[in-house]
Amino acid sequence: MIQKNLPQHVAIIMDGNGRWAKQHGLPRIEGHRRGAEAVKRCLKAAQANGVTHLTLYAFSVENWNRPQDEVDALMNLLDRFLREQLPELMKRQIRLRVIGRYRELPESIQARLREAEAATQHFEVYTLGLALNYGSRTEIVDAARAIAEAARIGDLDPADLDYGTLREYLYTGEMPDPDLVIRTSGESRLSNFLLLQSAYAEIYLSRVLWPDFDEAEFKNALSEYASRERRYGKTAEQLVPSTNLTHP
Ligand code: IPE
Ligand code: IPE
Ligand code: MG
Repeated sequence: MIQKNLPQHVAIIMDGNGRWAKQHGLPRIEGHRRGAEAVKRCLKAAQANGVTHLTLYAFSVENWNRPQDEVDALMNLLDRFLREQLPELMKRQIRLRVIGRYRELPESIQARLREAEAATQHFEVYTLGLALNYGSRTEIVDAARAIAEAARIGDLDPADLDYGTLREYLYTGEMPDPDLVIRTSGESRLSNFLLLQSAYAEIYLSRVLWPDFDEAEFKNALSEYASRERRYGKTAEQLVPSTNLTHP
């Protein structure tokens, strides 16, 4: 069922794989494996519920600091996920967009990502954003560098710079800003995720650990979003035209 007040772009901080594994007496990597299954469910749920843009935080710039065997296992899982899911993305006409510092990822992963992005680039309705080697601060530094360079060579007048122009330099490019950010596992922080783009996003903190995330919880987040009022600095009265009828 397609709801009213649907977010166009949902971005998710997929957290809790490690705790899920611990609770089940399993190694952390098993939590990540089950997390990959939850990603597949989530992709289906987003499309089934009419959400056109979904961005998933899969690996942060800070995640390189984890034990090497966990990092390696995550890269292997990512490789497998991309191999298995490309036909699915094609079938369901979903465009893949990677956000993050691409060139620091293992060469084999870069090749798969390039292949999947190229194969799906002509799909226009649905987009899956994968945040890989992503960090907001790094993204903003990269954008600032590119903007400074454009100004230096005379392609951009600093006086003309506004958010509309600045956002074109972010990894997210022409993607709309997220309307709803979900974080699973009960944590209440953004962990360097889409800090600028989420300036006016609604935030839904889910207690569910990511491997247990399913369509029911996705729908809970959508219902909660539908009941929120996005004011963008205005008063509640300004947003409800009927309350102004006696004060024309
Ligand atoms: C999220 O789960 C997956 C990644 C960050 C790659 P975690 O691995 O962070 O799970 P917890 O926080 O240890 O439970
Ligand atoms: C955020 O989760 C990164 C991803 C979901 C990929 P973390 O588990 O790395 O975040 P912190 O360290 O708890 O803030
Ligand atoms: Mg975590």
